Amino acid sequence: METPFIFTMHENLPRQGPGSNACTRKAFSMLADLPAQPEILDIGCGGGMQTVELARTCPGCRITATDIHQPFLDQLARNAASAGVSDRITTVRASMDDLPFDDGSFDVLWAEGSIFIIGFREGLVAWRRLLRPGGYLCLTEAAWFVENPSPEAVAFWNDCYPAITTVAANRAIAEDAGYEVVATFPLPASAWWDYYTPRSKRLADLRQKVADNPGAEAQVEFADREVAVYREHADEYGYEFFILQKRE
Ligand SMILES: C[S@@+](CC[C@H](N)C(=O)[O-])C[C@H]1O[C@@H](n2cnc3c(N)ncnc32)[C@H](O)[C@@H]1O
Repeated sequence: METPFIFTMHENLPRQGPGSNACTRKAFSMLADLPAQPEILDIGCGGGMQTVELARTCPGCRITATDIHQPFLDQLARNAASAGVSDRITTVRASMDDLPFDDGSFDVLWAEGSIFIIGFREGLVAWRRLLRPGGYLCLTEAAWFVENPSPEAVAFWNDCYPAITTVAANRAIAEDAGYEVVATFPLPASAWWDYYTPRSKRLADLRQKVADNPGAEAQVEFADREVAVYREHADEYGYEFFILQKRE
């Protein structure tokens, strides 16, 4: 089967969604009373920038990194080897809606920029069983930062992720799904540009190659629109990091 263009567009980029090592470290620093050798599951890890940073930040941890796209897992394995942390990272190709792990296998679940694929509430509910009592789920999710976003921003999100809501609404969903909200914080705009800038360079190269592929061309145009909307409306929405703890 041909690789979906959305994967081609993101292969071998530093990361596949907004984020930064500083934010990964900040979120991890909020986890209290972890065992000396925590088991971490990274869900939708992509090329694994955050996976490698977690391994560096927590020298005792063991990480199982999962993604649906094998080339991303291969990229992560290469990056982990370069960083000297491969002995603590295992990659598993698996879909986030059918994760092949026993109940209570992990101290921490990590999902930067990936839960939107399954849905915020759906992911929280489906993944909770994987956590040991008191375990943490750390994730980022798109959110409105203002009460009345502009029509252009609303139109864009209606086209790509109509389920986007406010941080307060997602906090309520998390509590309802059996988690305590330990903390949340917004990603800085730089975390978006660190993702968009290399991706835009890649798209400039790919544009000519996809000239006879209407589906791929449409995705390039949509990605350009995504960047243009963010440039104009970065104060209206963004990604929020959620640090959640499983409640018994
Ligand atoms: C926006 S990227 C985020 C990647 C990485 N966490 C980051 O922040 O750079 C979303 C990731 O989810 C993966 N993905 C898409 N559908 C998936 C599924 N059903 N199960 C697991 N991973 C999936 C994609 O391959 C991609 O790596």
